[in-house]
Amino acid sequence: MRKTIVAGNWKMNGTRESIKTLLDAITDRAMKIDGLVTLVCPPAVYLSQVVDQIADAPVAVGAQNVSEQSKGAYTGEWSLEMLQDLGCKYVILGHSERRSLFGESDELVAEKVAATLEAGLVPVLCVGETLGQREAGDALVVVNSQISATLQRIGIEGFASVVVAYEPVWAIGTGLTATPGDAQEVHAAIRAQLAEKDAIIADNLSILYGGSMNAANAAELLAQQDIDGGLIGGASLKADEFLTICAAAA
Ligand code: G3H
Repeated sequence: MRKTIVAGNWKMNGTRESIKTLLDAITDRAMKIDGLVTLVCPPAVYLSQVVDQIADAPVAVGAQNVSEQSKGAYTGEWSLEMLQDLGCKYVILGHSERRSLFGESDELVAEKVAATLEAGLVPVLCVGETLGQREAGDALVVVNSQISATLQRIGIEGFASVVVAYEPVWAIGTGLTATPGDAQEVHAAIRAQLAEKDAIIADNLSILYGGSMNAANAAELLAQQDIDGGLIGGASLKADEFLTICAAAA
């Protein structure tokens, strides 16, 4: 059964105080609805605070990244075991900012996805093309090849426990959003690529859209057949806006 997931990626924003205020507003009004997951992904240093504050509210917690290594001399990194220890359930992987600013390759992202599955957490695998790639007509080729890299590593069975997020790089933080039709085309292509291996796993896969999704444009995007939720950056830092998106997804 395909889940609808609305995930807030807070990126590198917030303080103890502002996160408490934001989360209070979200947990007060978060809806407990079958098939809907409301997910918040704070900066790693605040994960513990967020998990404690959420208590029994219907909100899940995810990290924005994790090491593919299990432990040891990796200064500045954190492990899946640590995320599990905190009560974290999801991990965003391969976000375009990790790929472009921190040099994460398709192969490294695939390794992280594999390690996350092995640890029993849910990877949110991000894929998406740059503006140049879209203008060259290569959007589908790029996205399919990013999916292929992980498919080769974890096999189609792995995708039974993966969430995919399609985030066109040119739409992230720019105020430019893919048209519902353009986004739907890419989502359908990802599903079709995986359906070639296993139609049931592909049908059950949640594919989120990310890239300037907000309260005003969410309903139209979420109405598309293959858009199963959102990965929200800027708009997730405002409780009202984030909750409006959750309501549109419900
Ligand atoms: O992970 C979230 C995406 O990068 C989208 O960010 O909503 O600020 O465009 P944005």
